[in-house]
Amino acid sequence: MKSFATIAAAAALVSSAAALPFGWGDWTGPNPATCMDNATATYLVAAFGSLISDYNATVANAILADDLVDWSDSINELTGAALGTATFPTKAAFEEGQGSQEAVPWETVAIEAYTCDTIAFRWIVPLPPNTIKGNTILKTENSAGQADTWQIKTIYTEFNSIAWLEDIGGSVTYPSE
Ligand SMILES: *[C@@H]1O[C@H](CO)[C@@H](O)[C@H](O)[C@H]1NC(C)=O
Ligand SMILES: *[C@@H]1O[C@H](CO)[C@@H](O)[C@H](O)[C@H]1NC(C)=O
Repeated sequence: MKSFATIAAAAALVSSAAALPFGWGDWTGPNPATCMDNATATYLVAAFGSLISDYNATVANAILADDLVDWSDSINELTGAALGTATFPTKAAFEEGQGSQEAVPWETVAIEAYTCDTIAFRWIVPLPPNTIKGNTILKTENSAGQADTWQIKTIYTEFNSIAWLEDIGGSVTYPSE
Protein backbone atom coordinates (compact mmCIF):
# COMPACT_ATOMS: atom_id res chain seq x y z
CA MET A 1 0.00 0.00 0.00
CA LYS A 2 1.22 3.46 -0.87
CA SER A 3 2.24 5.29 2.28
CA PHE A 4 1.93 8.95 3.09
CA ALA A 5 3.56 8.69 6.53
CA THR A 6 5.96 11.54 5.77
CA ILE A 7 3.19 14.03 5.06
CA ALA A 8 1.22 12.85 8.11
CA ALA A 9 4.30 13.19 10.34
CA ALA A 10 4.93 16.72 9.07
CA ALA A 11 1.31 17.64 9.79
CA ALA A 12 1.56 16.23 13.34
CA LEU A 13 4.54 18.53 13.99
CA VAL A 14 2.63 21.52 12.64
CA SER A 15 -0.45 20.81 14.75
CA SER A 16 1.50 20.35 18.01
CA ALA A 17 3.45 23.55 17.39
CA ALA A 18 0.25 25.44 16.57
CA ALA A 19 -1.33 24.32 19.85
CA LEU A 20 1.35 26.04 21.99
CA PRO A 21 0.02 29.65 21.87
CA PHE A 22 -3.26 28.44 23.35
CA GLY A 23 -1.57 26.94 26.40
CA TRP A 24 -2.15 23.34 25.43
CA GLY A 25 1.56 22.53 25.40
CA ASP A 26 1.06 18.85 26.07
CA TRP A 27 -1.94 18.49 23.78
CA THR A 28 -0.90 17.12 20.39
CA GLY A 29 -4.26 17.16 18.63
CA PRO A 30 -6.60 14.31 17.77
CA ASN A 31 -5.07 10.92 17.08
CA PRO A 32 -4.45 10.91 13.29
CA ALA A 33 -5.19 7.18 13.22
CA THR A 34 -8.76 7.69 14.50
CA CYS A 35 -9.46 11.20 13.19
CA MET A 36 -8.28 12.40 9.77
CA ASP A 37 -6.00 15.42 9.80
CA ASN A 38 -5.50 18.04 7.11
CA ALA A 39 -2.66 16.09 5.44
CA THR A 40 -4.82 12.98 5.13
CA ALA A 41 -7.81 14.91 3.76
CA THR A 42 -5.55 16.72 1.28
CA TYR A 43 -3.87 13.49 0.23
CA LEU A 44 -7.16 11.61 -0.30
CA VAL A 45 -8.70 14.43 -2.38
CA ALA A 46 -5.58 14.66 -4.57
CA ALA A 47 -5.41 10.89 -5.00
CA PHE A 48 -9.13 10.66 -5.74
CA GLY A 49 -8.81 13.40 -8.37
CA SER A 50 -5.88 11.57 -9.92
CA LEU A 51 -8.12 8.54 -10.48
CA ILE A 52 -10.34 10.72 -12.67
CA SER A 53 -7.57 12.56 -14.51
CA ASP A 54 -4.92 9.83 -14.69
CA TYR A 55 -6.22 6.45 -13.49
CA ASN A 56 -3.71 4.25 -11.70
CA ALA A 57 -4.76 0.83 -10.34
CA THR A 58 -2.14 0.88 -7.58
CA VAL A 59 -3.45 4.22 -6.30
CA ALA A 60 -7.06 3.02 -6.60
CA ASN A 61 -6.32 -0.11 -4.65
CA ALA A 62 -4.57 1.86 -1.90
CA ILE A 63 -7.12 4.63 -1.33
CA LEU A 64 -10.43 2.82 -1.93
CA ALA A 65 -11.88 0.75 0.90
CA ASP A 66 -12.95 -2.82 0.25
CA ASP A 67 -16.58 -1.86 0.97
CA LEU A 68 -16.55 1.19 -1.33
CA VAL A 69 -19.86 2.46 -2.75
CA ASP A 70 -20.05 5.40 -5.17
CA TRP A 71 -23.33 7.34 -5.48
CA SER A 72 -23.98 9.87 -8.24
CA ASP A 73 -27.32 10.53 -9.90
CA SER A 74 -25.47 12.97 -12.17
CA ILE A 75 -23.50 10.03 -13.58
CA ASN A 76 -26.59 7.77 -13.54
CA GLU A 77 -28.41 10.38 -15.62
CA LEU A 78 -25.57 10.46 -18.18
CA THR A 79 -25.21 6.68 -18.43
CA GLY A 80 -28.92 5.91 -18.45
CA ALA A 81 -28.80 4.05 -15.11
CA ALA A 82 -31.76 4.27 -12.75
CA LEU A 83 -31.70 7.34 -10.49
CA GLY A 84 -31.17 6.53 -6.83
CA THR A 85 -29.10 3.43 -7.52
CA ALA A 86 -25.41 3.09 -6.67
CA THR A 87 -23.29 4.20 -9.61
CA PHE A 88 -20.49 1.85 -8.58
CA PRO A 89 -21.82 -0.54 -5.90
CA THR A 90 -18.43 -2.14 -5.21
CA LYS A 91 -14.73 -1.34 -5.30
CA ALA A 92 -14.33 -3.76 -8.22
CA ALA A 93 -17.11 -1.97 -10.15
CA PHE A 94 -15.44 1.42 -9.54
CA GLU A 95 -12.06 0.11 -10.63
CA GLU A 96 -13.48 -1.50 -13.75
CA GLY A 97 -15.64 1.52 -14.65
CA GLN A 98 -13.17 4.27 -13.81
CA GLY A 99 -10.20 2.28 -15.11
CA SER A 100 -11.73 2.10 -18.57
CA GLN A 101 -12.86 5.77 -18.64
CA GLU A 102 -11.06 8.25 -20.82
CA ALA A 103 -8.98 10.62 -18.67
CA VAL A 104 -10.62 13.98 -17.99
CA PRO A 105 -8.91 17.22 -16.88
CA TRP A 106 -10.08 17.24 -13.25
CA GLU A 107 -9.08 20.13 -10.98
CA THR A 108 -9.82 20.45 -7.28
CA VAL A 109 -11.06 23.98 -6.51
CA ALA A 110 -11.16 23.80 -2.69
CA ILE A 111 -11.47 21.42 0.20
CA GLU A 112 -14.17 23.34 2.06
CA ALA A 113 -14.17 21.30 5.26
CA TYR A 114 -13.31 17.97 6.78
CA THR A 115 -14.19 16.12 9.97
CA CYS A 116 -12.68 12.96 11.46
CA ASP A 117 -14.23 10.82 8.70
CA THR A 118 -15.79 13.12 6.07
CA ILE A 119 -14.39 15.52 3.44
CA ALA A 120 -16.37 18.11 1.45
CA PHE A 121 -14.73 19.57 -1.64
CA ARG A 122 -15.47 21.37 -4.92
CA TRP A 123 -13.98 20.63 -8.31
CA ILE A 124 -14.14 21.60 -11.97
CA VAL A 125 -13.63 19.78 -15.25
CA PRO A 126 -12.72 22.45 -17.83
CA LEU A 127 -13.80 20.61 -20.98
CA PRO A 128 -14.99 22.73 -23.89
CA PRO A 129 -17.44 24.31 -24.36
CA ASN A 130 -18.66 24.14 -20.74
CA THR A 131 -16.53 24.04 -17.62
CA ILE A 132 -18.34 21.57 -15.39
CA LYS A 133 -18.62 22.34 -11.67
CA GLY A 134 -19.19 19.60 -9.12
CA ASN A 135 -19.27 18.89 -5.40
CA THR A 136 -18.11 15.70 -3.73
CA ILE A 137 -18.47 14.34 -0.22
CA LEU A 138 -16.07 11.54 0.71
CA LYS A 139 -16.76 9.35 3.74
CA THR A 140 -13.61 7.64 4.96
CA GLU A 141 -12.61 4.77 7.21
CA ASN A 142 -9.38 3.45 8.59
CA SER A 143 -9.74 -0.26 9.12
CA ALA A 144 -5.95 -0.81 9.21
CA GLY A 145 -5.73 1.70 12.06
CA GLN A 146 -2.49 3.52 11.12
CA ALA A 147 -2.21 7.28 10.56
CA ASP A 148 -1.44 6.64 6.88
CA THR A 149 -3.98 3.93 6.03
CA TRP A 150 -7.15 6.01 5.62
CA GLN A 151 -9.37 4.96 2.72
CA ILE A 152 -12.46 6.25 0.94
CA LYS A 153 -15.55 4.25 1.89
CA THR A 154 -18.42 6.21 0.30
CA ILE A 155 -18.40 8.74 -2.55
CA TYR A 156 -21.30 11.16 -3.06
CA THR A 157 -20.75 13.24 -6.21
CA GLU A 158 -23.14 15.55 -8.01
CA PHE A 159 -22.29 17.94 -10.83
CA ASN A 160 -23.75 19.87 -13.75
CA SER A 161 -24.65 16.89 -15.89
CA ILE A 162 -26.24 19.01 -18.64
CA ALA A 163 -22.92 20.87 -19.04
CA TRP A 164 -21.16 17.49 -19.26
CA LEU A 165 -23.73 16.14 -21.74
CA GLU A 166 -23.12 19.14 -24.01
CA ASP A 167 -19.34 18.69 -23.69
CA ILE A 168 -19.64 15.15 -25.03
CA GLY A 169 -21.78 16.26 -27.96
CA GLY A 170 -25.29 15.84 -26.54
CA SER A 171 -28.01 18.43 -26.50
CA VAL A 172 -31.07 19.21 -24.43
CA THR A 173 -34.57 20.16 -25.48
CA TYR A 174 -36.03 22.70 -23.09
CA PRO A 175 -39.74 22.48 -22.25
CA SER A 176 -41.95 24.88 -24.17
CA GLU A 177 -44.10 27.33 -22.22
C1 LIG B 1 0.92 4.03 -10.32
O1 LIG B 1 1.18 4.47 -9.01
C2 LIG B 1 2.27 3.80 -8.41
C3 LIG B 1 2.30 4.22 -6.95
O2 LIG B 1 2.36 5.60 -6.83
C4 LIG B 1 3.54 4.13 -9.16
O3 LIG B 1 4.63 3.46 -8.57
C5 LIG B 1 3.36 3.70 -10.61
O4 LIG B 1 4.49 4.10 -11.35
C6 LIG B 1 2.12 4.30 -11.21
N1 LIG B 1 1.90 3.72 -12.53
C7 LIG B 1 1.80 4.47 -13.62
C8 LIG B 1 1.55 3.74 -14.89
O5 LIG B 1 1.92 5.69 -13.59
C1 LIG C 1 -5.10 22.51 5.31
O1 LIG C 1 -3.84 23.11 5.49
C2 LIG C 1 -3.53 24.08 4.49
C3 LIG C 1 -2.07 24.50 4.69
O2 LIG C 1 -1.86 24.92 6.00
C4 LIG C 1 -4.51 25.23 4.62
O3 LIG C 1 -4.22 26.20 3.65
C5 LIG C 1 -5.92 24.70 4.42
O4 LIG C 1 -6.85 25.75 4.64
C6 LIG C 1 -6.21 23.56 5.36
N1 LIG C 1 -7.47 22.98 4.92
C7 LIG C 1 -8.52 22.83 5.73
C8 LIG C 1 -9.76 22.32 5.09
O5 LIG C 1 -8.47 23.10 6.91
